[in-house]
Amino acid sequence: MRTARLALDPAFTVGPVPRRLFGSFVEHMGRCVYTGIFEPDHPTADEDGLRTDVLELTREIGPTVVRYPGGNFVSGFEWEDSVGPREERPRRIDRAWRSVETNQFGLAEFDAWARKVGTETMMAVNLGTRGLQEACDLLEYTNLDSGTKFSELRRAHGSKDPFDIKLWCLGNELDGPWQTGHKTAAEYGRLAAETGMAMRSIDPSIELVAVGSSSRSMPTFGEWESTVLDLAYHAVDYVSCHAYYEEKEGDVGNFLASAVDMDLFIEQVVATADAVRAKGKHSKKINLSFDEWNVWYQSRPHHAEGVQPWDVAPRVIEDEYSITDAVVVGTLLNSLLRHSDRVTIGAQAQLVNVIGLLRSEPGGDAWKQTIAHPFEQVRRLASGDVLQVVTQSDKYESSNFGGVDVVDASATWDEETLTLFLANRDLSEPASVDVALRGFGVDRVSSAKVLAATEGQDRHTTNATGDHQQVGLRPLEDVSVTDGTATVVLPPLSWAVVQLRKG
Ligand code: AHR
Repeated sequence: MRTARLALDPAFTVGPVPRRLFGSFVEHMGRCVYTGIFEPDHPTADEDGLRTDVLELTREIGPTVVRYPGGNFVSGFEWEDSVGPREERPRRIDRAWRSVETNQFGLAEFDAWARKVGTETMMAVNLGTRGLQEACDLLEYTNLDSGTKFSELRRAHGSKDPFDIKLWCLGNELDGPWQTGHKTAAEYGRLAAETGMAMRSIDPSIELVAVGSSSRSMPTFGEWESTVLDLAYHAVDYVSCHAYYEEKEGDVGNFLASAVDMDLFIEQVVATADAVRAKGKHSKKINLSFDEWNVWYQSRPHHAEGVQPWDVAPRVIEDEYSITDAVVVGTLLNSLLRHSDRVTIGAQAQLVNVIGLLRSEPGGDAWKQTIAHPFEQVRRLASGDVLQVVTQSDKYESSNFGGVDVVDASATWDEETLTLFLANRDLSEPASVDVALRGFGVDRVSSAKVLAATEGQDRHTTNATGDHQQVGLRPLEDVSVTDGTATVVLPPLSWAVVQLRKG
C-alpha cells in the first residue's frame, strides 16, 4: 500500500474556481466539425444539421468555453468564405491538414451550436496569412450592431443580433515552424500589439490572448513569451500555453508525471510574464490561457489508412483513450486547478473525434471517451474556492522528473462541500490518502466515485468497442471519516473524486 497525507485549510485558498477553466476546442480539422458536431444527414440531426446525440453528450460534459475555428487551420482561414448563403460558399484547401474545407459550417452555424450547448465562444483570428484589417473586419461582423459595412453584411446574412464574442485569440502557434505564416517573436509581438489595439478600438470590451509557446520544449520557449510581451503587454490580457502528452517508448512513469511538466510550464510562463510586468512598470497582470492541452499520440501516424490529400473530413488523429490516459487527464486538470489564480482560461483539445473527449461515427453512434469522465466531473464539481494543497506522498522515480508523487491532488471548498480530486499513479498498488479536516466542519462522505480498471480490464482498456461505456465512474467504497481525518483508499492507477459535507 502506498500512502499520502494532504494538508488543507479553508483559509488557504488559491482563489475562486475560474469557470472558463473548463473549456474545449472545435477546429475545422478531420472530423471534429463534419460528422462530429455537424452532419445534416444523420438520423439525429436537428433543423440546423447539428447531431443532437453529440449535442446532448456535449451538454453533459459542459465545456464552459469553446475555442474556434483553429488551431493550425485558422492560420490560412478566410472568414468571409464561411458566411452567407451556403450554396455560394467556396470549397477551399486547408494547407494545415491537407484537406478540403467545404465551408458548409461557418460562423453563424457555430454561433447557433454554441448557443444550443450553452457555452461561450473563444474566437481565433488568422495572423498567419492575414493581418490587422481582416481581424478588424471579422470583429465588426461579429460584434457591431448595425450601420456599418460588415455589421450590415451579417444582418443581410440573417443574423440580426451581433454574436457578441468577448474572447479573442490573436493567431495560433506562430512560434512553430509548421505554422502557416510562422514568425519570429519580434515579428509576432508587433503584429499582436497592433492588431490588439485596433480590435479594442472597435470593441473595448473584448479580451485578447497573445500566442505563447506551442510547448515547453520549443527551442524559443521563454524568450518567445518575453519578447512578445515586451512588445504587446499593453495590448493583451492573456498569453497562451499549449501542451500535449503521450506515453513514449513504454515509459509509463514519465507519462503519468505529465502534470509535473504542466506545473513547471505554468510557473515558468507566470515568472516570465511577471518579469516583463516589472521591467515595463505595468500595473495589470497577464494571466494564462491554457487553450490547447490533452493526451495526443503524436508519434503515431496522423492520418488513418486510406486518407488521401484533399479529402473532405478525413480521419485525422482519432486517438482512442485508455484508462491510463484518463488518469493523466485527471492530473492535468489538477495542475490547472492548482494554478487557477493565474490560469483562468483552459481549453482541452479537442471536443470530438480529433483527439476528442467524444467520438462519433458517420451515420452511427456517439460516445464519451475515457478522458471525458474526469473532465466532466471536475467541471461539474469544482466549486467555490480552489484550496492550496500540501501533498506529502510516497514517490516513484521517473526518468525526466526524478522523484514524483504517487498521489496527485487538488481540492475545492464552497463553505458546504469539500471536494477532493485525487489520482493514484502507482500501476499495481493501492494508495491510502489521509486528509485532516480541521476547520471545515465536514464529517461525512457525500459522494465518492472512481475511474479504474475493473475485472477483465487493464490500463489499456478504452471505450472504442462494445457498448462504448466500459470505462466510466463507479462508486468508491473505501472512504471513511474518523476523528476528523478522512481516509481514501485509491485503487491502483486510478482517478477519483470525493465529496465531504457537514452533518
Ligand atoms: O489540436 C490539434 C493541433 O495541435 C492544432 O491545430 C494546433 O494548434 C496544435 O498544434
